[in-house]
Amino acid sequence: MRYILALVALWLFGGCSDEKKVRYDGEMLIEQKCAMCHNLKMPPDTYEDEKAPPMMAVVFHLKDFMKITMDEEKFSKFIPFVQDYVINPSKEKSYCDKESLESYGVMPSQKGNVTEDELEAIATYMYDFYDQQKYLKQMQAKAAFDALPKGEQIARKNGCFNCHSFEKKGVGPSFAMIAKQNAKEIKDTIANGSHGKWEGFHVMMPAFKSHLTQEHILILQQWIQKDAFGKQETKPVKNRVETPWKVKNDI
Ligand code: HEC
Ligand code: HEC
Repeated sequence: MRYILALVALWLFGGCSDEKKVRYDGEMLIEQKCAMCHNLKMPPDTYEDEKAPPMMAVVFHLKDFMKITMDEEKFSKFIPFVQDYVINPSKEKSYCDKESLESYGVMPSQKGNVTEDELEAIATYMYDFYDQQKYLKQMQAKAAFDALPKGEQIARKNGCFNCHSFEKKGVGPSFAMIAKQNAKEIKDTIANGSHGKWEGFHVMMPAFKSHLTQEHILILQQWIQKDAFGKQETKPVKNRVETPWKVKNDI
């Protein structure tokens, strides 16, 4: 009986895994199969001896040359081109300009390294991820962030705006209220946290000394007392969770 059960189990599980359609993860596959030559970042890092054009450049370029204007053309033009090119690349087919083609050389065929189904997932990911509009928005948001005073950058990055705002009382007192305290108290509270000092606030101000350097705490204190004072909320407060690009740790 046990033997039969085991057989049935085998049949069941075997049957299941046969029928399950494999779902390909384009992001994972592009890392595995293409990242050794193409830089995948948006915007890309630049290297001295690039083996291939960055993927962002490849996709922007292809969309442009194929005159893709509607998303349906992802299926009729973009994906089929990538599927074919990666397996059968040639000078004639390449949209790459002559100079770049000469400096990089034609892409070596990836036949045997990647299947047609995997390429479908990779090409879909490429089309969706390297999106000009999205890139433009990210760059604008990043430029706006970089233009903020350093103190505000640190504050946004560390989630201070989850509890504080410039003028309005929130979970914590407004920066305008806080600015009237003396400098040492402000720095001490940022470093060690505080609870029960201000009337009407029930949440605990967390300690930041393990996240922030002395220098960052000083910058924050000066920012609160100079720049932040009198500043009005002009746009919805963003915290770091909404920051789409990676902010360097050293700001
Ligand atoms: C061994 C290095 C190498 C690998 C691996 C590689 N590529 Fe390339 N690829 C290149 C080079 C070099 C070029 C530029 C010359 C050209 O257009 O053929 C290129 C160009 C391209 C182009 C642009 C063709 C055009 O007309 O402009 C596409 C699309 C492309 N690669 C997709 C991929 C995909 C998808 C993968 C992963 C499955 C991949 N490549 C893996 C080296 C590589
Ligand atoms: C979880 C919510 C929360 C977060 C996040 C938070 N605070 Fe606070 N903060 C408070 C509360 C609540 C108080 C009032 C504490 C009290 O009454 O003792 C406070 C008070 C302060 C004070 C008052 C200083 C004083 O001694 O009077 C300063 C300065 C301050 N926060 C700065 C910051 C900075 C800078 C950040 C980000 C690095 C931050 N806070 C993040 C909730 C928060």
